[in-house]
Amino acid sequence: MIAVTGIEELNNLRRKLKGPTGFVPTMGFLHEGHLSLVREARKHNQTVIVSIFVNPAQFGPSEDFQTYPKDIKHDLEILRKEGVDIVFTPSSEEMYPEDYSTWIEVAGLTEKLEGASRPGHFKGVATIVLKLLNITRPDVVYFGQKDAQQAIVIKHLVRDLNVPVNVIVMPTIRQPDGLALSSRNYYLSKEENEAATIIYKSLRLASKLYQNGERSPVKIKQAMTELIRSEPLVTIDDISIALPENLEELDIVNGQALVSLAVWIGKTRLIDNIIL
Ligand code: PAF
Repeated sequence: MIAVTGIEELNNLRRKLKGPTGFVPTMGFLHEGHLSLVREARKHNQTVIVSIFVNPAQFGPSEDFQTYPKDIKHDLEILRKEGVDIVFTPSSEEMYPEDYSTWIEVAGLTEKLEGASRPGHFKGVATIVLKLLNITRPDVVYFGQKDAQQAIVIKHLVRDLNVPVNVIVMPTIRQPDGLALSSRNYYLSKEENEAATIIYKSLRLASKLYQNGERSPVKIKQAMTELIRSEPLVTIDDISIALPENLEELDIVNGQALVSLAVWIGKTRLIDNIIL
C-alpha cells in the first residue's frame, strides 16, 4: 500500500494504473461501514484508492470540525490489511490553497433535509468529492446509504457535470442493536449509545406501520415522534418522508419513500434512514 499526500504525486501514480479503479472517499476514523465499501471496491477493481481527509468546507462554524475523531495510524493499518493499493491523505493546504475560490452547488436538492439543518454542508461535500474524483479519476466510487442525501446529491452532480464515474451506494452497516455505524458514535457515552438505538427502532416502526397499510406520512411521523420522545436523552432535529429521487416531501406514500431522521443526543447529531 502506498500512502500519498500530494496531488501531483497521486496524479503521477494514477497515470500508470491499468484496469478498473475503485475509489472510497472517507474522513477517516474508519469503521465497518467504511470497510464494507472498501471490500466492495476490492472485489470489483484492479486498483483500490481510499482518501482520508476531514474536509473543513463541509462543517459549519459551530460544528465539530476541530473535535472530529482521528486515528490515522489505525486507519492505515486496517486499510493495509484490506489490501488497499493507494491511500491519499492530503493536508487542507493541499486541497484548499490560499487563493482557492471555486465551489460546487447542487441547487434545490441540497436545501432540503440535512442541507436545511446544515447550511453550506453540501456545497463543501460536492466540492471536495468532485475535486477527489478529478484527482483520483476512478471508474467506480463508493458511498454508504447512511448518508442518503449525500449519495443522491453526488449522483446528481455526476450526472449534471458528466463526470465519467459509476456511483455505487452500499447498505448501512449497523451495530447488533441496530444503531447505524458512524464515526460520530465515538462521541456517545455508553448510556447515550444505548439511547441512540431508539433511532433505528423508530425507523423500524415506520416500516411496520407501512407494511400494515399506513400510507399517511403525518401519521407515520407522529408515531415515530412519540416513540423517540419516550427516550429522554434523544431530541428530534428532523423527520422526513420523501421521494428518494428528489427528496420532495410526500403527502401520501405510494411507491418508494425515503424515511430519514436526524436527532441530537447531547452535543452529537446523528442521522439514519430507511427506504419504505
Ligand atoms: O461521507 C463522508 O465521509 C464525507 O462526506 C466525504 C464523502 C468523504 C466527503 O468529505
